Amino acid sequence: MKLIGPFKQLVTLANLPLRGKLSDEQLEVILDGGILIKGGKIQKIGNFNELKLEYQNQNIEIENIDGEQVGFPAFVDSHTHICFGGNRANDFAMRNAGKTYLEIAESGGGIWSSVQHTRSASEEELLTTLLQRIDFLISLGITTVEIKSGYGLDVDNELKMLRIIKKAQGQTRATLVPTSLAAHLKPKDFKGDNQDYLHYILTDILPIVKQENLARRVDIFIEKSAFQIEESKLFLLKTKDLGFEITVHADQFTPGSSRVAVEVGAKSADHLEATIDEDIDFIATSNTVATALPGASLGLGEKFTPARKLLDAGAIVAIASDWNPGSAPMGNLITQASILATYEKLTTAEVLAGITFRSAYALGLEDRGKLEAGYKADFITFKTNNFQNVLYHQGSLKAENIYIDGNKIM
Ligand code: NIG
Ligand code: FE
Repeated sequence: MKLIGPFKQLVTLANLPLRGKLSDEQLEVILDGGILIKGGKIQKIGNFNELKLEYQNQNIEIENIDGEQVGFPAFVDSHTHICFGGNRANDFAMRNAGKTYLEIAESGGGIWSSVQHTRSASEEELLTTLLQRIDFLISLGITTVEIKSGYGLDVDNELKMLRIIKKAQGQTRATLVPTSLAAHLKPKDFKGDNQDYLHYILTDILPIVKQENLARRVDIFIEKSAFQIEESKLFLLKTKDLGFEITVHADQFTPGSSRVAVEVGAKSADHLEATIDEDIDFIATSNTVATALPGASLGLGEKFTPARKLLDAGAIVAIASDWNPGSAPMGNLITQASILATYEKLTTAEVLAGITFRSAYALGLEDRGKLEAGYKADFITFKTNNFQNVLYHQGSLKAENIYIDGNKIM
């Protein structure tokens, strides 16, 4: 057993409910805290000196924290597209210069350009850049990262992406959660309509994904410019029959698809910038997590997900980065969550819950995201004497130490 501390403050998030609004009075903050670890899991949380006394006869190893540091459960980014080739800085510049989606696509930009760059990139190049992005996320305090395919869009390239993510898992201590997003867009070189392409995913891609155990989750982009409501619903029900968990890119520009997500029992409905008031209760009374992606709002100059309304209605609200080369190039979840809080009026407790146990729940990982006995010992520290400083500095206060399974990895 190992005792780590003392932490000036330990923000445990223990006892916070899975759904709905939270006040900061509900936050448990342990002063001069200690974390007792056994076998990669949290054995006990409490006052450092009291724990030291209590276990003094049990031959525990003491790992001292130097200086004043606050501790949190490590963060979870439940929505990213960080396996990609190329760069879309020109899309960003054109968008800001007032060009339309169509003009950008016609000049060689958009999702299709990332598909071409990802298809032509070598596996080595994709793996190296993916691992660099994972390391950046770890440096922010994120130790669990969901990663989507979706820039391959044919059998070979979708499998190539997922196999690279699997390889990356062998080279990082972070937990990677791969998701098949073959249904991102019908690729330009596919002969057939949307329904033919969705059928092709079901018959030619997903069985191999299953067989090779490359992903246990399936995502789809439901939008006027991508896949339509009815065809998507049929597709998702069939992926469920194949044994996949579901997540959906929903209501990004037009409403309606969050209802599909709830109806098919999706683990999460992500984006929701365009969700109408009438659909908020429908989401909020379900077990489908509503995931805000402020990085996409900031990258596109679009409005934010109505996180306040969703929380007030009782939804399980997570916050993720959506890091991708097009709509959300920033990748800094802490900055994004903090900015979302200022615009949507979210409490510190709501933001912290949204990037820890609530986003973990969206990934089906209920073993992490709180500092509580029995939980995975993934936690992080910041060199400061007040936990509020982390969101206050909007991402510019860097994490000091990162622990995974109770071991300091940074
Ligand atoms: O989550 N909405 C669709 N897909 C991504 C964008 C991907 C891209 O532009 O490359 C998103 O925003
Ligand atoms: Fe996305």
